[in-house]
Amino acid sequence: MKLSFKLSPSFSLSMALLAGLASAPAFTQTAPAAVPAVSMSDKSAFIADLLGKMTLDEKVGQLRLISIGPEMPIAQLADEIAAGRIGGTFNSVNRPHNRQLQDAATQRSRMKIPMFFAFDVIHGHRTTFPIGLGLASSWDMDVVTSMARTAAKEASADAADMTFAPMVDISRDPRWGRTSEGFGEDPYLVSEIAKTVVRGFQGKLPIGPNNVMAAVKHFALYGAVEGGRDYNTVDMSPMRMYQDYLPPYRAAIDAGAGGVMVALNSINGVPATSNTWLMQDLLRKDWGFKGVAVSDHGAIVELTRHGVAKDEREAAKLAIKTGIDMSMADSVYLKELPGLVKSGEVSMTEIDNAVREVLGAKYDMGLFQNPYVRIGVAADDPPDLKADSRLSRPAARDAARKSVVLLENRNNTLPLSKTAKVALVGPLADAPIDMLGSWSAAGDYKASVTLRTGLVNAIGKNLIYARGANLTNDEEIVKYLNYLNWDSPEVTQDKRAPAAMIAEAVKAARRADVVVVAVGESRGMSHESSSRTSLDLPQSQRALITAMKATGKPIVLVLMNGRPLALQREQKEADAILETWYTGIEGGNAIADVLFGDYNPAGKLPISFPRSVGQIPIYYNHPRLGRPFTPGKPGNYTSQYFEEPNGALYPFGYGISYTDFNVSDVTLSSATMARGAKVEASVTVKNTGQRGGETVVQLYIRDVAASVVRPVKELKDFRKIMLKPGEEKVVRFTVDEEKLKFFNAQLQRVAEPGTFTVQIGLDSEAVKEKNFDLQ
Ligand code: NOJ
Repeated sequence: MKLSFKLSPSFSLSMALLAGLASAPAFTQTAPAAVPAVSMSDKSAFIADLLGKMTLDEKVGQLRLISIGPEMPIAQLADEIAAGRIGGTFNSVNRPHNRQLQDAATQRSRMKIPMFFAFDVIHGHRTTFPIGLGLASSWDMDVVTSMARTAAKEASADAADMTFAPMVDISRDPRWGRTSEGFGEDPYLVSEIAKTVVRGFQGKLPIGPNNVMAAVKHFALYGAVEGGRDYNTVDMSPMRMYQDYLPPYRAAIDAGAGGVMVALNSINGVPATSNTWLMQDLLRKDWGFKGVAVSDHGAIVELTRHGVAKDEREAAKLAIKTGIDMSMADSVYLKELPGLVKSGEVSMTEIDNAVREVLGAKYDMGLFQNPYVRIGVAADDPPDLKADSRLSRPAARDAARKSVVLLENRNNTLPLSKTAKVALVGPLADAPIDMLGSWSAAGDYKASVTLRTGLVNAIGKNLIYARGANLTNDEEIVKYLNYLNWDSPEVTQDKRAPAAMIAEAVKAARRADVVVVAVGESRGMSHESSSRTSLDLPQSQRALITAMKATGKPIVLVLMNGRPLALQREQKEADAILETWYTGIEGGNAIADVLFGDYNPAGKLPISFPRSVGQIPIYYNHPRLGRPFTPGKPGNYTSQYFEEPNGALYPFGYGISYTDFNVSDVTLSSATMARGAKVEASVTVKNTGQRGGETVVQLYIRDVAASVVRPVKELKDFRKIMLKPGEEKVVRFTVDEEKLKFFNAQLQRVAEPGTFTVQIGLDSEAVKEKNFDLQ
């Protein structure tokens, strides 16, 4: 029997209320909606009823997630949908297109099951916010919420129902280009952000009309690809997995993420896409995940290349049995599953399990109640998708200012005076595409305020600009970056000889009081499949910095990059260094706010900066060692590198300010903690400088002796505070048993009795300590 969609007004209203859609636009499509045999308010009965009426082909069709784009013209897509051969699409945020496709589903397909539309909304939608690393540098959950809410409102207004985000892969290897997309190296900080983003995107299920469903990715451990080389294999001990890499995915799921995107890599010899331990034992049974699992792009077919499936048929069989509900950007399920069911190799129950999750997600997105809930009506379609009036510039500027990290500031070079003559040089000084950062899918570079524009806005004629250098002089690299071809061309080369460009920059510097040098990476250098063997600035940019230094003028480096760079040389040359990551469309204004002191920077690094690429992996929460290196002591027979100083150049949690803060000794409410009880740890933080400013007070804990090797310290809490000059505040942290727990050798989460060291400071290294005992 067909579902004929016809809603009575009261039914429609009660469904709208159910889905939190009371304020949704009225369902004005001529499209017929369902008169289900069972009440739509009972999700599982409703879906079971639907499943019972579907043919095998229709079920398999629901498992196909296809990209709108060159893969298939829209008219053909509509026909495929009408034939019941597609369940959802991604890559289109065009309301008329999506409406046409939804019409095909709700009017022309036999079952009239609505489509869903997904999109990569990673760090903003039309309004591009700072990249993940930048958002994480704010250590400010209001900033993260502002990004997620703004993005969800904009994406849903563009007919997106689901986003493939948050991307919460822990990364300890900055060679990996996708480090830029994530939130850094720390399980606690990334988990806090993961929860916040999920709540901001979707809120509770079923989601409302101004929300998008969050599909957390890439499950799992994608950030640990060997050597930082994208798509490489992952080999990891269970303890490290549970302790360090899995918590952020879990946090997103516990916050209610409706979807999971499965990683492209293998884990300990089994690709995630065919890993039943990962997808069933861990995700579904242990964690209780009830949503939809989508493959990554082409990942099911790639099982043949991983060498665990001899052909696509076997790949489809493995994936469906593993619990991959939707196959992304291929037709492998469509082609293979019907035959596999007929031959008895795949059971109808296995198909039904997957279809149930897809329909469940559609239900949770409110699409059965109103398939056009985010598509709206044609009369309301925006005439210009990219109109500036659709952007949230103040929110983007605020987030960008808060994402900037001050790494160096010798002789109080910063903030600059607005009456100073400023020379601005460097290949990233006027780079609107790069301001957006990687994965800014709906971002428009024409909306970017570059640093040059931001400085002109701030000081007008006091700015002198010269490009000074190309991003790189290596044409092979330029060719690689332009192959990506999102915005053509990604990287534009100035045709002049390097020496001529530098000469022009030197001339500009000589006329100025201070030189701001905008250097780093183009966004394509910190992107999917853009792994690097070196973390150095390209030679062309190094030469520019050296030439600027030779002028004797104070040098301010403004870094734009998507991963920690190796900055030993630059640290010596520059008077001030500002890590700005990729700041988004308001970046130029936001960086100007910081340079001229209209905003006092408070960002803290969410990832360690190595001295050189050879130190990788380097991360602050390293396991304890039998022969640790002790700074200031001879290194022989300790764990170290002998040819350069040890430890990070800039540690996790680091970032300075235009003012100074003093942290008192730690006070504990008790030297012992009974089981189930709490200890309060506090410090007094005082602003001892001349300006008001924010800082992030960080709580770390070390387990002094445990049944397994534990990290030297682990972040357990943090607080961002604002202090006026001379002001002091007591910052209190509650330490309970939860904060002392870890996964032991049997992978049980336990807090073992014994001594713990509480460490509090403004970065992960400069901390004050005090011990207490858990009884
Ligand atoms: C491949 C990427 O790995 C993933 O992060 C993204 O969501 C999909 N493509 C869809 O664009």
